[in-house]
Amino acid sequence: MSARLIDGNALSTSIRGQLAERAAVLKAKGVTPCLAVILVGEDPASQVYVRNKVNACEKIGMPSLQDVYPVDVDPAVVFARIAALNADPAVHGILVQLPLPKHFDATAVLAAIAPDKDVDGFHAENVGSLMQGKSRFIPCTPYGIMKMLASEGVRIAGAEAVVVGRSNIVGKPMAMLLLAQNATVTICHSQTIDLAFHTRRADILVAAIGRERMITGDMIKRGATVIDVGMNRYSSGPKQGKLCGDVDFDTAREVAGLITPVPGGVGPMTITMLLANTLESAERALQ
Ligand code: GUN
Repeated sequence: MSARLIDGNALSTSIRGQLAERAAVLKAKGVTPCLAVILVGEDPASQVYVRNKVNACEKIGMPSLQDVYPVDVDPAVVFARIAALNADPAVHGILVQLPLPKHFDATAVLAAIAPDKDVDGFHAENVGSLMQGKSRFIPCTPYGIMKMLASEGVRIAGAEAVVVGRSNIVGKPMAMLLLAQNATVTICHSQTIDLAFHTRRADILVAAIGRERMITGDMIKRGATVIDVGMNRYSSGPKQGKLCGDVDFDTAREVAGLITPVPGGVGPMTITMLLANTLESAERALQ
């Protein structure tokens, strides 16, 4: 039996349609929601992500500002720009694309963003609020995954949820959100002794490892919901160079009940929730 696909493109299109309507309502009230994006350096993957974010803003009628700095920029320049954006009432969301070059203290940069414009939800104050179950901004990738689970009616309360990966961007906030909805949550990582023991117990399995097709069908419980956050490329074989996830899709889909494809799964939802957070920030500013 083959798993049913969770179509991130279709869900994104539907949510973005609603966001465009909300953006139009705001504009009619004199507020134009605006996202400011800061990119340091020329990492090709980051350039693609930032371009996609800026284009997505444009498509729902939301202007964005983009500041691109050379890799060796003095961090003081970036801090000064963040301070200016914090103080600018026309800017509702500020995003600094990660990773930053090594001479930056990334935690200090994230801490410099005003918490009420931190649409990534990475500021310590927002991370703390998420842990307390009263979040201001939910980090975009886990937020998008929760929307995907809800759209498919996946039962979370009481489910065994296993998150593979413990990053601040995905793994940790993902675990918090599943916990807040009463799943029993396990977080696995590079030091986990027997990864397959844990993943085989999962009713909901979230793979956010960053390693090509690491989760294979034999590691998945029959009927499980499998969410693939990976964005890798086949390193060999006939599909070499093509996009693939952290899950070996061909073997996993034979076992899983529901599965997200790569591309066309979690990726578009991440950007959609960034738009949602920015719009929400603008709506709050109006109140
Ligand atoms: N780098 C990879 N994912 C993200 C993200 O969601 N936000 C930011 N700011 N940087 C990233």
